Amino acid sequence: MSDNFAQLVKQQADIVRIIGDYVKLRKSGAQNYSGLCPFHKEKTGSFSVNATHGYFYCFGCHEKGDVFTFIMKLESISFPEAVRAVATKCGIPLPKREFNSPEEAREAGQRRQLLDIHEAATQYFEAALKAPEAARAREYLTGRGVTPDTIAKFRIGYAPDDFNHMRNALKPHFSEDILRTSGLFKSKEQADGNQGQLYALFRKRITFPICNEQGKTIAFTARALDSQDEKGRDIAKYLNSPEGPLYSKGQVLFNLDKAKADIRSLGFALLVEGQMDCISVYMAGIKNVVATSGTAFTEMQVRLLSRFTPNKQVILNFDPDTAGKNAAEKASTLLTEEDFEVRIVTLEGGLDPDRFIREQGIQAYTAAIRGAKRYMDYLIDRAREEFPGRTSDAKVKALNFLLPHIRRIPNRIQRDEFAADAAQKLGIDSAILRQELKQAAAQRVESVRSHTQDPASETERVLLRALVLPEGDPARTLVVEQFIQHPEWYDGLPSSPLLESLANGPAPPNLLDAAPDQQSRALLARTLHEAEDPSSTTQPMTEQVENALHTLEHRQLERRQRELRTLIAEADRRNDHEMLTRLTSEKLQIDRKLRLH
Ligand code: CTP
Ligand code: MN
Repeated sequence: MSDNFAQLVKQQADIVRIIGDYVKLRKSGAQNYSGLCPFHKEKTGSFSVNATHGYFYCFGCHEKGDVFTFIMKLESISFPEAVRAVATKCGIPLPKREFNSPEEAREAGQRRQLLDIHEAATQYFEAALKAPEAARAREYLTGRGVTPDTIAKFRIGYAPDDFNHMRNALKPHFSEDILRTSGLFKSKEQADGNQGQLYALFRKRITFPICNEQGKTIAFTARALDSQDEKGRDIAKYLNSPEGPLYSKGQVLFNLDKAKADIRSLGFALLVEGQMDCISVYMAGIKNVVATSGTAFTEMQVRLLSRFTPNKQVILNFDPDTAGKNAAEKASTLLTEEDFEVRIVTLEGGLDPDRFIREQGIQAYTAAIRGAKRYMDYLIDRAREEFPGRTSDAKVKALNFLLPHIRRIPNRIQRDEFAADAAQKLGIDSAILRQELKQAAAQRVESVRSHTQDPASETERVLLRALVLPEGDPARTLVVEQFIQHPEWYDGLPSSPLLESLANGPAPPNLLDAAPDQQSRALLARTLHEAEDPSSTTQPMTEQVENALHTLEHRQLERRQRELRTLIAEADRRNDHEMLTRLTSEKLQIDRKLRLH
């Protein structure tokens, strides 16, 4: 990315429009605009943007810079990435990138064509919704209160009841390979082992584009008009594009492209389950809403949200049915563990947001949002509902329901508060139960989350358990070998001095003496204690170790990826091309590794 190009982009970029995507700006002078600073929490706007000179400045926290600095800081990306992002927002064509390998060039080319075919498909479906044969689809939408405005805004379309038409329409413009990879078509394997003709995946369905953060279609979700096919068999209400090079469902939040500016300016996101819920809520004027599209909420999505909510607040409004409740609790657990402040909306009458707004109006809905319960209070209420009564049996059950939730909150003060609230609301006066609550609050436990998240403690415990095994045990050998080969994996782990001491020498007669300090001693004691508990897990030790090592490597890769971002931004600023090439190629390797990891 040359300096000239960055200069050109900066000259052409309208800083007010670009920043306006993230911050609500109003004119406050001939050339000045102001709004609430996205870099610190404030109630009155001390953030100002100067249109002529192309810079921003906050009188409150003194953040300042140009359009690139702004994007770099807010999106946590490097300088070259910011230049590309701004160029794309302004519609300035990117200079031909130099690729490190033909494979890389091919990937980039494929991605572009996949975006093109998704845009073509979006237009195809939009046009199809206007055709005479889509009369029923239009009636259906009208019946659900979907207005022409909404249709235009969300680019809602219709996939006609036809296997071949869409393929024939797109075929002249795209290669067979792109048609296949797009996921918009399917084919059947023939008797000779070859793939047969492509046919349309979505048929007789209302189509909703799923967009990336830039608002480009990367997949579709499509709702059936009927609940059964022509042969009377039940069909799925919603059908989604398969995952592919553009689309990975755990990494996307429906409507984030439209909602992100409002999420940022309001300081919180409203998370719903269905895209119809999301669309209704958005069109009713609550614009900071995104949807999980009914899939399990993931760590990636938490990270996505935290990029737009620096003070980490989210309100969940999932369906009131059992599936919705479970999904809401899983999502809340994940969010709470990442230090989010979670609130839960429960709508009266068992309605989902879409129906609630239609039946009770937006004012009632806004009131419900305002009345959202803190997740802790929600859980205590749930515990009381599930285990009603004041008998000690009910109290114990309610308490057991709450304990794991309490243990998962990362913040000590909040754990204490939760425990105290629970004791009071459940009317717990037994000393033993109080003691259990206290202990839960005192000691945070890593959750049952899979190893893709930052799981240092569970991982550390497995490694420790392996290292206290007798010399020659395969699980122990595995850890020791890796410790010698990849010392960097262990950087920053609280237990790394202990691990090192155990890995390096023969164990002393009293194992606890291997601990180099008091803290390690406690940790080791606990580990030894847990290792004696046969019910803890049934997974073979070597497997546990392999998983733990995998996690360590993953952590290390992610850490290096973050470092590289900063280094690349710096090298770019210094115009150090040689360094830039080296760093970029390392980052690409890591990106690829992480994708496969
Ligand atoms: N979903 C899905 N596949 C299904 C059913 C649901 O992918 N067979 C996803 C959709 O993204 C849907 C969400 O889960 O929006 C929530 O499902 P549900 O509550 O059943 O649907 P609604 O949003 O109420 O759908 P509608 O209002 O269109 O009936
Ligand atoms: Mn619904």
